[in-house]
Amino acid sequence: MAYVRKDVSALTRGERRRFVKALLEIKRRGEYDEFVRVHVDHFIGDGDRRLRAAHMTPSFLPWHRQYLLDLERALRRVDASVTVPYWDWTKDRTARSVPWTADLLGGNGRSSDQQVTTGPFAYAEGHWTIREGVTDAKFLTRDLGRRRDPIDLPTGADVRWALDDPVYDVAPWNSTVGRGFRNKLEGWGAGHGSRSWHNHNRVHRWVGGVMLTGASVNDPVFWLHHAFLDLQWHRWQLRHREHRYLPASPPGRGSDQHRRIVARHERLPPWDVTPDELEDVSRIYRYA
Ligand code: CU
Ligand code: CU
Repeated sequence: MAYVRKDVSALTRGERRRFVKALLEIKRRGEYDEFVRVHVDHFIGDGDRRLRAAHMTPSFLPWHRQYLLDLERALRRVDASVTVPYWDWTKDRTARSVPWTADLLGGNGRSSDQQVTTGPFAYAEGHWTIREGVTDAKFLTRDLGRRRDPIDLPTGADVRWALDDPVYDVAPWNSTVGRGFRNKLEGWGAGHGSRSWHNHNRVHRWVGGVMLTGASVNDPVFWLHHAFLDLQWHRWQLRHREHRYLPASPPGRGSDQHRRIVARHERLPPWDVTPDELEDVSRIYRYA
């Protein structure tokens, strides 16, 4: 039976408590920090000549889908009733809405050093010391909405702009493409500064703190954000049924992207799974 991922605003008090408790338990066991390490290891930009499996690449969506499944499996080993909720940032748009409550992820960082001091992930609570960061800071940081230079979260129209594109991705399959669902959702745009950040990227910017880095997973909102993106991939598939993950086959030797991206039937590292196998996960979970 497929389990259900819910909108975080629809969780009951008990569901919120069990989700947080399971996260703290895998953190205590050291499993959570292994997840952070995997993300840091796969934080490879398209200026790099290596294979990019996770970011600035067609497999951005399947990579994070498998990554969420692994995390969810770890949580469900602790408590089989837990699933990863999604944060619909087109709807819950302020620093006071869910998931920024004291019984879920806690609130904004304080202004002096961006340290999160409320909720279960506050450093002083003693359960959430950052060990796999890209700086020396041991505490979780946030700057919701960027207080010194405010930006807004993406809107429903921004998401529709991505969903309306019937083509999954286009050559050269990186952060420079202006067409294709994948990059419109991942959000690498033209120009400079805040106007160039769309959907996925813009949300990372809006949250700020550790979410700006390769160790963004240290903020548990990472999972809620990526569950909402995963839901958009599902919606895009329902909307454009004749369209699929691209590229269908690997770029040839003559291509600048030869061996740098993952085609539909190629292995998606670090797992032994292909984008093709991850296109339909309806037997594992569905979205409410
Ligand atoms: Cu990522
Ligand atoms: Cu992300």
